[in-house]
Amino acid sequence: MITVKNAEEIALMRESCRIVKETLEFVGRNIRAGMTTKDVDDMVNRYITSCGAYPSSLGYCGYPASSCVSVNEVVVHGIPSDRIIEDGDIVSVDITAEKNGFNGDAARTFMIGDVSEEKRQLVRVTEECFFKALQGLKAGTPLYDIGYAVQTHAESHGYGVVRALVGHGIGREMHEDPSVPNYGKRGTGMRLRAGMTICIEPMINAGTHKVVFHKDGWTVTTMDGRPSAHYENTVLITEDGVEILTL
Ligand code: MF3
Ligand code: CO
Ligand code: CO
Repeated sequence: MITVKNAEEIALMRESCRIVKETLEFVGRNIRAGMTTKDVDDMVNRYITSCGAYPSSLGYCGYPASSCVSVNEVVVHGIPSDRIIEDGDIVSVDITAEKNGFNGDAARTFMIGDVSEEKRQLVRVTEECFFKALQGLKAGTPLYDIGYAVQTHAESHGYGVVRALVGHGIGREMHEDPSVPNYGKRGTGMRLRAGMTICIEPMINAGTHKVVFHKDGWTVTTMDGRPSAHYENTVLITEDGVEILTL
């Protein structure tokens, strides 16, 4: 179901999204080589709960952790484990926090130590894809203009745009309608409305767009083993533009 938020609900969205933003900033200041992905998850859990919020991922469809920590070839939904983060890794940390009944959701890909130029560019272009999608975005924009913008930018660099996973609406539920693909045809799809809150989250692969879903039920990796980056924010659609709530 697509939900359009009123002023009161938007105020609550802002609060949850602020917590998500601060948590990611905290992780960014502290993440380093030698830590395990579980150590990162512990930081996330402690920070979110200290804000009086709940890490919505924990228990979501049985998901066992407070964050998704996805290293290098892991596209998304990396389950925190004893995997050690190494110098040269790119690590995407994706978190959702719920407070007063509303969710905020965002992800960053952190570069650890001395990262190759190939990975640096992948991370940079993935972030750029998100901002390209915001250009001209406002109430009335056709939904698939978002995916068109992401895909055009990513593919101009020869990258693969993940198809199997998409962005989404967000609010009382972590995942609401509509689905927000990172690919698509310009001028098509439903028209966005002021008061909609959506997660725009390019997942971009250095090589093929094809991914593998693992038997643990969660982990998604690139089919060719090359690196992947993820960048996500919760965005409010307004009459004359957008507001990024997690930045
Ligand atoms: N935060 C993810 C998203 O962007 C969803 C993670 S669900 C989980 O949609 F259960 F894996 F945490
Ligand atoms: Co997310
Ligand atoms: Co999301």
